[in-house]
Amino acid sequence: MQLLLKNIKQLVTVASNGKQCKTGVEMRDIGVIENATVLIEDGHFRWIGADAKFTTALSDDAHIVDASELVALPGFVDCHTHLVFAGSRENEFAMRAAGKTYQQIAEQGGGILSTVKATRAAVKKDLKKLASKRLDDMLKHGTTTVEIKSGYGLEEESEIKMMDVINELRKEHYMTVMPTFLGAHAIPPEYKQKPDEYVEFVCERMLPYVAKRKIASFCDVFCESGYFSVGQSRKILEKARSLGIDLKIHADELAPSGGSTLAGELRAVSADHLEHINDAGIRALKAGGTVGVLLPGVSFFLNHSYAPARKLIDAGVPVAISTDFNPGSCMSFSVPMMMTLACTQLNMTPEEAIAACTLNGAAALKMSNTVGSIETGKQADIVLYDIPNYQYLAYHFGVNHVNTVIKRGVILEF
Ligand code: NIG
Ligand code: FE
Repeated sequence: MQLLLKNIKQLVTVASNGKQCKTGVEMRDIGVIENATVLIEDGHFRWIGADAKFTTALSDDAHIVDASELVALPGFVDCHTHLVFAGSRENEFAMRAAGKTYQQIAEQGGGILSTVKATRAAVKKDLKKLASKRLDDMLKHGTTTVEIKSGYGLEEESEIKMMDVINELRKEHYMTVMPTFLGAHAIPPEYKQKPDEYVEFVCERMLPYVAKRKIASFCDVFCESGYFSVGQSRKILEKARSLGIDLKIHADELAPSGGSTLAGELRAVSADHLEHINDAGIRALKAGGTVGVLLPGVSFFLNHSYAPARKLIDAGVPVAISTDFNPGSCMSFSVPMMMTLACTQLNMTPEEAIAACTLNGAAALKMSNTVGSIETGKQADIVLYDIPNYQYLAYHFGVNHVNTVIKRGVILEF
């Protein structure tokens, strides 16, 4: 089956010519082609270039779309989310507006543990329905690949319930879904006085089960004071690695915790948050080939400091941007909104922001060979926007500019 997109006003390819990610000044080179044609065949990109150079003969039943008023980008890769959850936390949002901090609310029994309560109580079918609707909405906003973490169960049965929901959606939903096990998201109330026993439980019971059933591509840990120490995080991540699972870490979010240094040392695929990363952490990420995933929506939503994006980019660390979509620290799955924050708060250029939300997001999921850019052979995930040029996307914020979403070569009907 052939799909031809012709007369595309501006095509942003983010082509990397075989590289897994863009670093340093490469992030500004996003491969823009004016008046472009894209030929898709059997769900993959077959030909990409200027209209004038297109000479391939089409089959009789080829579907042709005239995109002369539209701008095309690769589907976004949202590489860090917690989108399977029950309940919501607008009460905490109101408490913060009245002056309480995220940590104070967590210490009083709110925070992650309040979503744990709601998620444990929810039956699998309802959790799945909520998550599936969120995936539909994300596709409508231009995201075509998403990572989803467990971590609102914190006991065997509920963590497995979350992992099963994520894996069922991975099979059944149009969205490309990557599953991450985050059993170490918080110390569950049952283990408040004996956190090391919970770490033991994660390592000796949950991780071997997850590995055996092959239900997680990554293992993640929330390394932070009040959650998991560097020593505990190391134990969990080393165990995961010994079972053949790739590593991620929530690092240096609320304070400098040493998480980024650990990530680099363990050659984690990504270290995420990094609001308080120090120079040693930046050097460790560079040395470990670890992608730095920045989540500016969290800084915005919690009114925290922002990650030092410029320092990271200038140091040559591959930088990705993601939403962190979750009910506590960022109740938004809008990638363009994160791009706006990248430009206004992280001092990134619109080009760097686009590279960070596409190819580099794919690198944070080890998926650069299949998604994240518009290049021949890759999965045909491409989104058309009603905007005059690509810079307009982050500039005109708070509105959905999506015109058409094409997922694996299929035009999605909403
Ligand atoms: O990435 N930092 C830890 N976990 C989430 C917050 C989850 C929540 O508050 O429910 C985050 O910010
Ligand atoms: Fe997170």
